[in-house]
Amino acid sequence: MSDRRVVILLGPPGAGKGTQAVRLSDGLGLPHVSTGDLFRENLSNDTELGRRAKGFMESGQLVPDELVLEMLFDRVSKPDCAEGYLLDGFPRTIPQAESLAERLGAETPRALLLEVDDALIVGRAAGRLICKGCGNIQHLEFSPPAKAGVCDACGGELQRRKDDEPDVVRERLAVYHEQTAPLVGFYENKGQLKRVNGDQKPDAVYADLVRCLEEAA
Ligand code: AP5
Ligand code: MG
Ligand code: ZN
Repeated sequence: MSDRRVVILLGPPGAGKGTQAVRLSDGLGLPHVSTGDLFRENLSNDTELGRRAKGFMESGQLVPDELVLEMLFDRVSKPDCAEGYLLDGFPRTIPQAESLAERLGAETPRALLLEVDDALIVGRAAGRLICKGCGNIQHLEFSPPAKAGVCDACGGELQRRKDDEPDVVRERLAVYHEQTAPLVGFYENKGQLKRVNGDQKPDAVYADLVRCLEEAA
């Protein structure tokens, strides 16, 4: 139990949580658990959960806590999470954070906040490209594919996310400030949060994240 590590990546939409989570997951040897990815998987498999989450996701609202918690706790009960896991996009509300704390008991999570100015967020989302095959995240301008529409990592097809339309992104950002930003204080008051400047090259962001985790160890 004491060897388990739970790392939380916090930050606004488009901050780079997914981009960094893939690398950190490799670096730390912890499974990457993204509630957004889990919902999108359910959507594309047309499950009951996916159907219930769809409207909330497409309008930029949060999916209700009870749906998120059931899905998340089911995922982190899998054997690959026994030594710990890396959370991306969860928790997103105070009740979600409280449920996680209750589940972890004496174990302390480490929260890393990716700070990115609101002004940059819409552009990051508008240019985002995601590989249908392997989930690799690229960007039209900041991480352009060598061949248009083709994933650099696996040659799969790159696509946009439905909720990356500017109007939906602005709504997601408003929801972030209202419902998720209070988690910064929640974890900071417990001495469990470190802040990283997310407005740097991805390599520099990664180096800062790793440094924070080493300091916290
Ligand atoms: P989710 O999928 O979690 O979306 P999000 O939090 O809004 O975050 P994003 O995935 O948009 O951004 P990211 O921080 O991962 O950035 P990325 O690395 O891709 O959630 C989607 C929806 O699901 C929610 O709206 C909600 O409805 C529902 N949901 C999920 N979890 C929930 C929960 N716990 N409770 C309730 N509802 C929930 O980077 C973005 C772009 O920027 C990319 O193109 C990337 O290439 C580029 N980029 C990354 N880093 C850099 C950099 N350093 N410099 C320049 N460009 C960069
Ligand atoms: Mg993401
Ligand atoms: Zn790919």
